[in-house]
Amino acid sequence: MTSILMVCLGNICRSPMAEGILKSKLPTKDFIVDSAGTASYHVGEKPDIRSVETALNHGVNITSQRSRQFKVEDFDLFDFIYVMDYSNYDNVVHLARNEDDKAKVKLILEELKSSLTLEVPDPYYGGEKGFKNVYIMLDKACNVIAKRLLK
Ligand code: 4NP
Repeated sequence: MTSILMVCLGNICRSPMAEGILKSKLPTKDFIVDSAGTASYHVGEKPDIRSVETALNHGVNITSQRSRQFKVEDFDLFDFIYVMDYSNYDNVVHLARNEDDKAKVKLILEELKSSLTLEVPDPYYGGEKGFKNVYIMLDKACNVIAKRLLK
């Protein structure tokens, strides 16, 4: 089994979409994909309705997900930890116990060699367009990740 964790701030907008997208590209028998937030504000909540609808428009159903907070044990449970922005990166790396933990953490857009930005923008306070933009970015990055993992 290979395990991948997607991390953002609230675990209701970006990382639930990233989880759903990557899951849709990998066989469940060989891969575990999960997501978490660095903050606890939304623990137990369903993904933001705008993320749910954006994903559904692409045939990806994320309605069964519930927000949870990132925990130190996630470093033991996951092989790869993808964060959405520098703030997530700092928050997760702050909890790393050693260099091995730290080496698991990567900005997800680093997978896109030609990306103009390395941060997936937080769409929470914006409109629907922001969610569509996030979906496109995450879909591209997940294509690269899935292709490599399936080699
Ligand atoms: P996410 O978006 O980190 O992509 O889930 C956010 C969700 C909630 C908040 C901030 C960002 N919030 O401040 O409650």
